[in-house]
Amino acid sequence: MDIKKLFGLEGKTVVITGAASGMAKAATELLLQLGAKVHAVDINPISLPVLKSYQKDLSKKEEIDDLINELPNKIDALFLCHGIAAFPGNEQKVQIVNFYGQKYLTECLLERLNDHASVTFISSVGGFGWQTIYKDAVELIEQKTWDEAMKWYETHPDKIQSAYVFAKQCLLSYVTYKCMDPSFINRKIRINAINPGDTITGLTKDFNKSTSPTGNEEEGAKMIENIFLKSWNGYPATPEDMGYPLVVIGSDICSYMSGQCIYIDYGLTSNWTSLALLKEQDKTIEQISSEKM
Ligand SMILES: NC(=O)c1ccc[n+]([C@@H]2O[C@H](COP(=O)([O-])OP(=O)(O)OC[C@H]3O[C@@H](n4cnc5c(N)ncnc54)[C@H](O)[C@@H]3O)[C@@H](O)[C@H]2O)c1
Repeated sequence: MDIKKLFGLEGKTVVITGAASGMAKAATELLLQLGAKVHAVDINPISLPVLKSYQKDLSKKEEIDDLINELPNKIDALFLCHGIAAFPGNEQKVQIVNFYGQKYLTECLLERLNDHASVTFISSVGGFGWQTIYKDAVELIEQKTWDEAMKWYETHPDKIQSAYVFAKQCLLSYVTYKCMDPSFINRKIRINAINPGDTITGLTKDFNKSTSPTGNEEEGAKMIENIFLKSWNGYPATPEDMGYPLVVIGSDICSYMSGQCIYIDYGLTSNWTSLALLKEQDKTIEQISSEKM
């Protein structure tokens, strides 16, 4: 079997954001191995031998617009991977970088996506429970312009208090809401997201600091370990653990997959779901755990 043919990315035009580091860098390495023509975007310089790199700050509408003007006219796969951690005071920037700017970029490029193209986002296990904010997310998604969306954020400060979580939940809501939208489905454009668990990347330091109530890196690291790893005696993922499945989902291997939010977390969030469902059936967590021993 010809593996490159299986992926169907050889000679295809691919745009990937966040490619200077972490998961998107790992994905870009694989895309290059598969023979894709890679257009890579990041706020930082990109070291990989891509066809073209674009150094842009995707928290700024003007720079996103510049990028849109410079990107190719025909695109086969779009991977939106850039992201930042949340700190007190940067709640709105987190919404733009981690969600709204990605939505805006996708929709501005939609006409240039070929039929059967793919759009694949990196959300997060932090977006778990996105169903609870779905109606708010749809209200935001339905804002007609960038300025109206910014106003929506300004007038809903309570919604964006959970900054990182809300942005990632909006991304998952977007995938669910748009997969059958005529603008996507009429041309069979697939839209999916992956939800990584704890992964050692360029963001790890910031995540540790932002998780600790006092900004203490060590304390935050311990808290992250307790939330994401302790229950299954687990270990953090590598960028490749996320970047490679991301490429698979955006490739022809997953040609019939759309509207999916795939958790890549060794089952952690499925276990959270299991515990919650059993709890709803009046079982205590202690009962459930003792039954599982
Ligand atoms: N690392 C984790 O544990 C983890 C877990 C779940 C989800 N994620 C998500 O994975 C995605 C990839 O992050 P990563 O963990 O590989 O981190 P990373 O820092 O290694 O990569 C993120 C990239 O985004 C770029 N970026 C940040 N702000 C930007 C901006 N304004 N304009 C353009 N580029 C910008 C950075 O320069 C960086 O190269 C992010 O969306 C992140 O939220 C990470």
